[in-house]
Amino acid sequence: MQKKVRITVVGSGYVGLVAAACFAEIGHDVICVDNDQSKIDALKGGACLIHEEFLPELLDRHRNGRLQFSANLAEATAGSDAIFIAVGTPQSDTGDADLSYVEAVASEIARHLTHYTVIVEKSTVPVYTNEWIRRTLERNGVERGMFDVVSNPEFLREGTAVRDFLHPDRIVVGSDKQEAADVLSAIYAPLTDGTYFDGESAIPGPLNTNTPAPILHTSTKSAEIIKHASNAFLALKISFINAVSNLCEATDANVEQVASGMGLDSRIGGRFLRPGIGYGGSCFPKDVAAFRSVADALGVDFSLLREVESINIEQQKRFLRKIRSALWTLRGKKLGVLGLAFKGGTDDIRDSPAIALIQMLIEEGCTVCAFDPAGMERAHAVLPVSATMSYAADAYEAAMEADALLILTDWDEFCDLDLNRIKLNLRYPTVLDGRNLFDPKTVSGAGLTYVSVGRPTAH
Ligand code: UGA
Repeated sequence: MQKKVRITVVGSGYVGLVAAACFAEIGHDVICVDNDQSKIDALKGGACLIHEEFLPELLDRHRNGRLQFSANLAEATAGSDAIFIAVGTPQSDTGDADLSYVEAVASEIARHLTHYTVIVEKSTVPVYTNEWIRRTLERNGVERGMFDVVSNPEFLREGTAVRDFLHPDRIVVGSDKQEAADVLSAIYAPLTDGTYFDGESAIPGPLNTNTPAPILHTSTKSAEIIKHASNAFLALKISFINAVSNLCEATDANVEQVASGMGLDSRIGGRFLRPGIGYGGSCFPKDVAAFRSVADALGVDFSLLREVESINIEQQKRFLRKIRSALWTLRGKKLGVLGLAFKGGTDDIRDSPAIALIQMLIEEGCTVCAFDPAGMERAHAVLPVSATMSYAADAYEAAMEADALLILTDWDEFCDLDLNRIKLNLRYPTVLDGRNLFDPKTVSGAGLTYVSVGRPTAH
């Protein structure tokens, strides 16, 4: 019989909401707290708030059962064994992570703590944050023996968040106290001993396997660094393959063949070697900057991270130059755009390279008609409808009378487009694909000029 833990998750964003739903799914009693009452009301009323596969199903299964929603952190604190802090840590002007939300939550927890509780950092935070949380609680009058602070970074990806949470490559628990580490071990036991999979998990794993997840116990500071180092390393892999793709373009080699050849070496691995228009999203750009900033503050030379960032920025500009060289001049050109989200499978447009490119194109005098299967509603806030910006009901409408069609997000469903229909709708038969979704031969076979990333251009 698994031990049921009473958990509070503070924050109902991507990480908080997914974690809360998944903790309930593996058998715990969970309260998801947010200080935005309208969000709480919406969640209580049956809304999901974010586009995430399997999340609506989990919320429906556990809402009003093991999963409660509340705006009252005081009440939640009083009844919890563990409190996960999953609030935002946005980038400040200096590149550092802005930890003011984390501090505010820690102060509020301090005011309501009545019994021993494990405070867990779930948000991505720089090394030493656990110490600041500890000091914040002590400064607010909480005795040292009443709490421990543990780092339990989250590695889920948007779009596959629920699957990643329930079928993780690893669970990292950074704790300097055994008692606190034991609470975390009990929370994750259904995943680490595999008992969760004995039940009826409706959520298939990445390879449809129900392998128990390994748990790694480390010091708190190591766990904090593991999170930043992992994201920075993945960003480095992407920048590396983007730089290689530029070399491929200069030599007429094919980056896909190069990436396959590299990836078959198990020391390198084939994942995160897809070139494109640069990484985006709410994590990699912010986390690479924050990790660099941590190194700077500690006097450690990590200028490699600057290169990762500058290759990423250059990759976007390079795609803009490709559009310009395909169309000669940009002023007055009408462009169809497929994709607004920072990657396929999500409605998240934060730090999306697609949005940045559209803004640059509009500045250069183009008009844009865009389509995204999930990101259009959020995109309206940053790219309102105007004389130069419009939205289409589907991909074919976006292509209508356009001088070229741009593919900026890797949505699976774009791979199934009828290229003959696209060609008929376009004014000029040109497709610039920033995500390498098609085989160049197929597109050129349909009579379209096709420009992609790191692969020989097909005419
Ligand atoms: C990333 C990490 O992958 C997660 O492990 C981590 O938990 C999360 O950040 C976080 O810190 O919260 P996410 O930002 O959701 O997850 O998305 P990714 O799938 O990592 O993609 C990030 C960006 O890299 C996207 O713009 C994507 O298009 C781009 N990318 C990814 C590439 O350009 N090439 C690739 O081969 C892979």
